[in-house]
Amino acid sequence: MTSPSPSTDAVAVPAVAVDAVTKTYGDRKAVDGVSLTIRRGEFFGLLGPNGAGKSTLVEIMEGLRKAESGSVAVFGESPWPRNTALLPRMGVQTQSSAFFVRQTVHEHLRTVAALFGAPSKAVDETLEAVGLGQMRDIRVDNLSGGQRQRLAIASALVHGPELIFLDEPTAALDPEGRRDLWEVLRDLKAEGRTIVYTTHHLDEAEALCDRVGILVAGRLVVTDEPQHLINTFGASSRLLVPLGRIDEDQARELPGVDGVMVQGGHLVLETRATGQVLSALDARGGLDGVQTRTPSLEDVYLELTARQSPLASQHASNNQEQQA
Ligand SMILES: Nc1ncnc2c1ncn2[C@@H]1O[C@H](COP(=O)(O)OP(=O)(O)OP(=O)(O)O)[C@@H](O)[C@H]1O
Ligand SMILES: [Mg+2]
Repeated sequence: MTSPSPSTDAVAVPAVAVDAVTKTYGDRKAVDGVSLTIRRGEFFGLLGPNGAGKSTLVEIMEGLRKAESGSVAVFGESPWPRNTALLPRMGVQTQSSAFFVRQTVHEHLRTVAALFGAPSKAVDETLEAVGLGQMRDIRVDNLSGGQRQRLAIASALVHGPELIFLDEPTAALDPEGRRDLWEVLRDLKAEGRTIVYTTHHLDEAEALCDRVGILVAGRLVVTDEPQHLINTFGASSRLLVPLGRIDEDQARELPGVDGVMVQGGHLVLETRATGQVLSALDARGGLDGVQTRTPSLEDVYLELTARQSPLASQHASNNQEQQA
């Protein structure tokens, strides 16, 4: 993989600027007035439920789909209609990547590299980076699902693009492959490349992304740094107390406890005042075996998507009708 070449517009122009973009299929708004700026060198994660519009939005950024209204600029230029000046600067892994299936892994990647004029040593380096070094002579149609996914990622990276789009790159990977890819992506970011990716793995987004955007039914409901989102919307911390230490009623009366339930052999205490509850527990039988679960991006995501989902508004309007 070659290093990104510094360009004269390096600082002034963002990697991607999306302004009031919409895309409709039939009567469904797949993307509904999304505006978003992704800085150079940023690792941006697009999150959201199935059908939220993530792939549609990413493919509009990539120039693979046309925005119905609004505008998109990649390094200051429109990616649509197909912009050949941008192609070498972008690496794209779509959710349903196409392959030269009759070729071997190495031949496939060599073909992709040749399309972009990438040096042949980049082919071997990239295969090693995605863990396909041993598979180089296997035909593409004989690869497993996860191996194909690795090859799709390699195909997006082999020409050393400045801007990398990955649509659910870790979806089919085993846990070890997922962690290996995290390292590859961290190295790419450390080299100054911009990464835009989608995922359903919230732990992963929390670990990797500088910022995430949560898309629900085509609308971007929030864009922020994961930790800031957790601090702002963060659900309560949970303290897991071994059963029998105190009973549910006693737990409910502890200062700082917002909720109590029994789950998997523990009494689970929800609180936004962890220290206060811990010292109260300490005074009533000690802290031996007590575990603390701090809120995560997943808690925030579940909270925000539930609030925004059509099912939630349906539920709310049903309740209103019942009350009326
Ligand atoms: N070419 C198309 N023709 C018709 N409808 C489409 C087309 N592409 C996407 N859609 C619809 O647009 C909506 C958004 O789809 P999209 O693939 O962008 O969702 P997503 O957020 O990527 O979901 P997932 O997490 O399942 O990958 C869905 O309702 C989908 O059915
Ligand atoms: Mg998708």
